[in-house]
Amino acid sequence: MKNNQVLHINVEVYEDLKFLVDSDRSLLLKAIEISESAYAPYSNFLVGAALELSSGEIITGSNQENVAFPSGICAERTAFYYAGSKYPDSKIVKVAVTARSKQFEVNYPVSPCGACRQVMYEYESKQDSPIKVIMMGASGQVRVMQSIADLLPFTFNESSLKKY
Ligand code: THU
Repeated sequence: MKNNQVLHINVEVYEDLKFLVDSDRSLLLKAIEISESAYAPYSNFLVGAALELSSGEIITGSNQENVAFPSGICAERTAFYYAGSKYPDSKIVKVAVTARSKQFEVNYPVSPCGACRQVMYEYESKQDSPIKVIMMGASGQVRVMQSIADLLPFTFNESSLKKY
């Protein structure tokens, strides 16, 4: 016996950031601003992430590379780990992610890598409320999703570690 499971994931697509609600647009602008602080001499790919906490506080981070490549870290994890360290009891309401390249036009919404999805999912599960994700390149469309779980279906989660 075989069944097919069909996933329905809602993705909002905006033709331009001017169509976003003000609070999402201003968070995205913060991500664009912090992307300029990226230390990315190896990829020339400058990524910025901005988080909004339930307190209204904004946390930002950029990718930080290393000559030993795996030792570098993505913008999203820079920001999430800082938020987790400094405000361990605050909820993260949304995250905006953006990138530009020094070599080509990033004209598509930049999506977080798999490792960052797993890390962001940890915080979403811990706080038990969804984190909205706003994604954009240097130009073009903006993609908005309502939770990290939507970005990472079939997660490896806490229950996977428990014995029943
Ligand atoms: N990068 C991020 O900062 N976030 C992502 O989700 C994808 C990739 C960084 C890592 C590396 O410094 C550069 O982009 C190229 O992969």
